[in-house]
Amino acid sequence: MTITSLSSQINVVASGPVLSVKFKRPDKMNAFTFEMYRSLTEILNKAEKSDGVRVVVLSGMGEHFSAGNDIADFVSVLEEGGMARDSDAAIFVDTIREFSKPIIAAVDGYAVGIGTTLLLYCDLVYASSMAKFRTPFTHLGLCPEAAASHIMPKMMGRARAGEWLLLGDVISSEQAMRDGIITRIVDDPIGMAMDKAKFLAGLSPKALQDTKKLMSSNNEVLRNAFDQEMIKFAECLESDEAKQAFKQFLEKQES
Ligand code: COA
Repeated sequence: MTITSLSSQINVVASGPVLSVKFKRPDKMNAFTFEMYRSLTEILNKAEKSDGVRVVVLSGMGEHFSAGNDIADFVSVLEEGGMARDSDAAIFVDTIREFSKPIIAAVDGYAVGIGTTLLLYCDLVYASSMAKFRTPFTHLGLCPEAAASHIMPKMMGRARAGEWLLLGDVISSEQAMRDGIITRIVDDPIGMAMDKAKFLAGLSPKALQDTKKLMSSNNEVLRNAFDQEMIKFAECLESDEAKQAFKQFLEKQES
């Protein structure tokens, strides 16, 4: 099966059994558009079905992993009647959560919002010492997504999750590693991710998929947590605080 991208904003290259998927919107720090979510969902669905793909590697083109959801798209969502549970972003989260093969992420520069929360669904995460992580939902008048409000307190303890989800701090690679978000800090995240992907691709696919399933939190629980978040997220998105935050960001970019 040949896997291609529906979008020019996503680059896909197969190196034997390793599928490299790059976010390709470097002028916007790889902020995710609807089109990117749809393309990523399609790529993961095809990769799931293809015996030729054994491992997926996610990375960003240019200096950054991803600056999260495109802020202008939040405004479009509001104009179109609000955030639905079957939005492109939510379907992407459902798809990556259910994906059965190993996913490795290589992170450099900023990983913001869903740029961080999607890492919760990656099996190995290699980051440079310069990577910066941030889940600034509350600064935007929003609440977490992708079941981060469930996973992060369990992963690092509630008191530390508060720095990510309530304070919305900028988090260093060192802290992200202490908090369990990343596997290791390395000089060449993409090189390391590809090396580990090639190594995994040589192991038994069944053993890897069974192991991943056993290591993962109960997907039903995560789905329910995400359902709850999406109700709150849609409400928050409609708030004056959120609208003001989007306006401020977009005006800053225009000035
Ligand atoms: N949505 C849309 N565009 C974004 C973006 C986003 N989430 N993040 C960055 N960009 C764009 C900027 O508009 C800018 O584009 P321009 O050069 O055409 O004006 C470009 O990427 C560079 O961003 P800039 O803000 O100038 O870079 P910076 O180094 O000063 O700041 C960040 C980097 C990540 C701190 C800042 O861009 C930011 O806060 N982005 C928003 C992150 C966010 O809140 N994401 C959603 C979470 S739910």
